Amino acid sequence: MSDQVLAEATAQIETVRAGRAVVPVVRSFFDEPTNTASHVVHDPGTRQAAIIDSVLDYEAASGRTSHATAQAIVDYVRREGLTVAWQLETHAHADHLSAAPWLQEQVGGALAIGADITIVQDVFGKIFNAGTRFARDGSQFDRLFRDGDRFRIGDIEAIALHVPGHTPADMAYVIGDAVFPGDTLFMPDYGTARADFPGGDARHLFQSIRRLLSLPREARLFLCHDYKAPGRDVYAWETTVGAQRDGNVHVHDGVSEEDFVAMRTTRDSTLSLPKLIMPSVQVNIRGGRLPDAEENGVRYIKIPIDRL
Ligand SMILES: [Fe+2]
Repeated sequence: MSDQVLAEATAQIETVRAGRAVVPVVRSFFDEPTNTASHVVHDPGTRQAAIIDSVLDYEAASGRTSHATAQAIVDYVRREGLTVAWQLETHAHADHLSAAPWLQEQVGGALAIGADITIVQDVFGKIFNAGTRFARDGSQFDRLFRDGDRFRIGDIEAIALHVPGHTPADMAYVIGDAVFPGDTLFMPDYGTARADFPGGDARHLFQSIRRLLSLPREARLFLCHDYKAPGRDVYAWETTVGAQRDGNVHVHDGVSEEDFVAMRTTRDSTLSLPKLIMPSVQVNIRGGRLPDAEENGVRYIKIPIDRL
């Protein structure tokens, strides 16, 4: 089966690696409480930038939000003199709240996510009984990407890839020679993302991962999470397609779809839900906006009992 989008992404990466296009600069910010790596990628010529998968600090016990983690990104953007063109989400995260709306107020940028967020909004809109005021058409976002959609960060070419499996709406962003695969692959020694959330599918995840691993071996991968693998003492989030193909413990070259699905399904059945899934999903399907305040001026997070 020919994959025109993959061919275009491959050509884009090869152009950068051959020195015929700008190499994007990537700076990552790791949030240890949620094990999330947010990334700021920019064009060193025009100083246009995108912020990918930002984190709003949220303390589950008290329901308190704060902006220390996102403020570090704002400080970096201002220090470097960057103009933020995009706030990109790879998917509606279940383990941290997005800081995108707050970051938009500080530094701007169009908020984008995969077009199939509407499926996720529908699934979780029902689970949270969100009512008719919650639009399930993706209108909370400025741009909904489909597979193969192109965009730019200054002079850097970028392509959105639809990589479902972890959720039906997951996107990977190929920006110059840098790939942001969201929750598909983790570091080679840790493996892959879970596929058991509502709407997730281990078979789709395998197919999405193999598609990403068809990109050039030298492509740089900047991951969304790290949990330190057994025997590794430092957090890491940057690797390459080649390193994943050679050594990913779940999906190195030679692992079959059937073996992967069996492994993933067995492993997922042992995992507990992320600590922040209830607030994260409720907020992130609204583009990171907190639920509307009730008549006393206070916002509330709902928790469905015996549902997830
Ligand atoms: Fe996720």
